Amino acid sequence: MKQQEITMEKIVSLCKRRGFIFPCSEIYGGFANSYSFGPYGTELKNNIKKLWWEKFVSQREDIVGIDGPILLHPKVWEASGHTTGFNDAMADCKECKKRFRADHLVEEATGRDMEGRLEEMTKILKEKKIKCPECQASNWTEVKNLNMMFKTEMNGINEPVYLRPETAGAIFIEFKNILDSMRVKIPFGIAQIGKAFRNEIVAGNFIFRIREFEQMEIEYFFNPEMKWEDLFEKWLKLQEEFAMELGVKKTDLRRLEHPKAKLSHYSKKTVDIEYKFPFGFKELYGLAHRGDFDLSQHSKASNQKLEYFDAENNKRFIPHVLEPTFGLDRSILAALLSAYTEEAIPTPGPSREGNYSSEIRIVMKFPKKLAPIKAAVFPLLKNKPELVKKAKSIYDELKLKFMCEFDDHGNIGKRYRRQDEIGTPYCVTVDFDSLEDKAATVRDRDTMKQERVEINKLENYLVNGLR
Ligand code: GAP
Repeated sequence: MKQQEITMEKIVSLCKRRGFIFPCSEIYGGFANSYSFGPYGTELKNNIKKLWWEKFVSQREDIVGIDGPILLHPKVWEASGHTTGFNDAMADCKECKKRFRADHLVEEATGRDMEGRLEEMTKILKEKKIKCPECQASNWTEVKNLNMMFKTEMNGINEPVYLRPETAGAIFIEFKNILDSMRVKIPFGIAQIGKAFRNEIVAGNFIFRIREFEQMEIEYFFNPEMKWEDLFEKWLKLQEEFAMELGVKKTDLRRLEHPKAKLSHYSKKTVDIEYKFPFGFKELYGLAHRGDFDLSQHSKASNQKLEYFDAENNKRFIPHVLEPTFGLDRSILAALLSAYTEEAIPTPGPSREGNYSSEIRIVMKFPKKLAPIKAAVFPLLKNKPELVKKAKSIYDELKLKFMCEFDDHGNIGKRYRRQDEIGTPYCVTVDFDSLEDKAATVRDRDTMKQERVEINKLENYLVNGLR
């Protein structure tokens, strides 16, 4: 059957209905495009983080992991240029008081790239009578640069403290500690997964752009004399490979290289890896060659030597760095979109028109490693204590091995439907025969095929299937 169109509405609705992701503070009317991960969303998120950590930290000898704080010394953000340069050009509508990205409004109306040209944008908003997307008025304030970092206060510190806008900052400032405490040899990387905060004006498209999100980042340090082009290509491939491990199709990915004119002075190359979201190709991950900018800046600002000593060649240098960055929330969204499948399944009786009718089955075909629940165990009937007892004892064993669920609500068809929608690879049903033949029926999520498996071989059967 032809795959139905996957819309954001379908994903948002499934996420709420099935406990993946909820709009946050909903009982108070919602809050600023923020979301809570429900029980299945949290499992999915943890599974993605685990997959990433295994691929880029545990299974590599050249990358170590850290977990730094969200609140760092304010000088970190001065040195990295975020205090002065991490801005978006904004204009307010004087009528409805809503704030918008002025560069987006002007670019949409003129097709021109307006980066940084505030006065010109103010002029164009007025002259072209660009309408407010909210109230359709055309009465704008001057265009101003507003910093995207969230400010907070810390007792005893007499200057603003920022919630980190990226995890990378916490990595660079531990470069020296890693050199001093670990036996890393160049090239090597430092990885981190954690929260980042950005005062985005245009949050939206569900969890694509939010103000509080998570990043999985690596700073990969190498000798500046090394040929970096091959390394860059290797990292791009690894990033694409990771996306495909989430279930993303290669054809839904593309690379977008930043034009040379738009690169920061220190960067030799930056490439976005874009994913085909329902609202168009947009950035999923990024890879930047950042030269020695960060270490040099932190070295100058802190008055500390942030150099690597190459004992073999008796040389000291400030390493250059490649920065592969992965948005965790966008990974989750891409995994949800890639897994979402609608299938027609024939239903037994003829429809009113006399043809055999078919029902739409929604199934989240996550790679098994990512599935929030690996197996669900059912007694065929809820009101038969001997079946419930047997199913419970199977569940009690299996839950020690992986995330499982016990379900005795409604009929089997409804239970399958629910497990399909949360992407559970296997459903195990205990029926009357089970009491005699000591076997249960295992149903496969993708093929819907059912197989009779001996109960004492069930764990092995599932473990093998989940590999
Ligand atoms: N350290 C480099 C850095 O932060 P970035 O392109 O600004 O680069 C990295 O962000 C990744 O973080 C993006 O590729 C995206 O996946 C994710 N990201 C950025 N802003 C986000 C937001 N407001 N909401 C969700 N994810 C975001």
